[in-house]
Amino acid sequence: MIRIGILISGSGSNLQSIINAVRMGTIAGEIVKVISNDEKAYGLTRAAEAGISTEVVKHGDYAGRAAFEEKLLSVLQEAAVELVVLAGFMRVLGAGFLAAFPDRVINIHPALLPSFPGTHGQAQAFTYGVKLAGCTVHFVDEQVDHGPIIMQAAVPVLADDDADRLAARILRCEHKIFPLALALYCAGRLRIEKRKVSILGVDETLLEDQCLISCPV
Ligand code: GAR
Repeated sequence: MIRIGILISGSGSNLQSIINAVRMGTIAGEIVKVISNDEKAYGLTRAAEAGISTEVVKHGDYAGRAAFEEKLLSVLQEAAVELVVLAGFMRVLGAGFLAAFPDRVINIHPALLPSFPGTHGQAQAFTYGVKLAGCTVHFVDEQVDHGPIIMQAAVPVLADDDADRLAARILRCEHKIFPLALALYCAGRLRIEKRKVSILGVDETLLEDQCLISCPV
């Protein structure tokens, strides 16, 4: 069982999808700590309801990023966390933090990276006028929303969408691929070579002819 620590900042719907997958036994891991940098984050309630230990570490309480990250690290290390999952965590983690968890920090981003990194990826994609939007699960490296990609899911942008409606459609996909990617990690089925992540033991024969077209005419 991999010991998982999850960092959140908000509603925690992705956290919930991971809690559910752990409960179902799809993820061979145990969520041993949930940390939020915002004490009002609803995800804290979700974690508490699931009987998971929580902690609030507010970035504003620390002199700078280094001190904030040191505190995060001490909470995670005290809980003997082996894998750090960023589930809607809205702070950037620096080299010092990442060095403590090499290739062991995984993030979800609500856009098809490398397009639309940073905040409000869904709104950026909507405003740009893309026809397919989506989400990305990736290992975290020192650049923002940049590390090796584990999994992506695409959704069409519909004519009567607004940014919120599109974000909701993307979020439903996030809830599918995030637990799936974590399940693969915990099963030891991910290999990183440079930027490329391969998934061991998948039969890709059906994928070759798959194609998602944004307008089914
Ligand atoms: C999700 O859409 C996630 O992809 C995004 O924040 C939302 C959190 O929702 N993360 C980022 O934008 C990180 N750059 P949740 O709290 O309901 O899981």
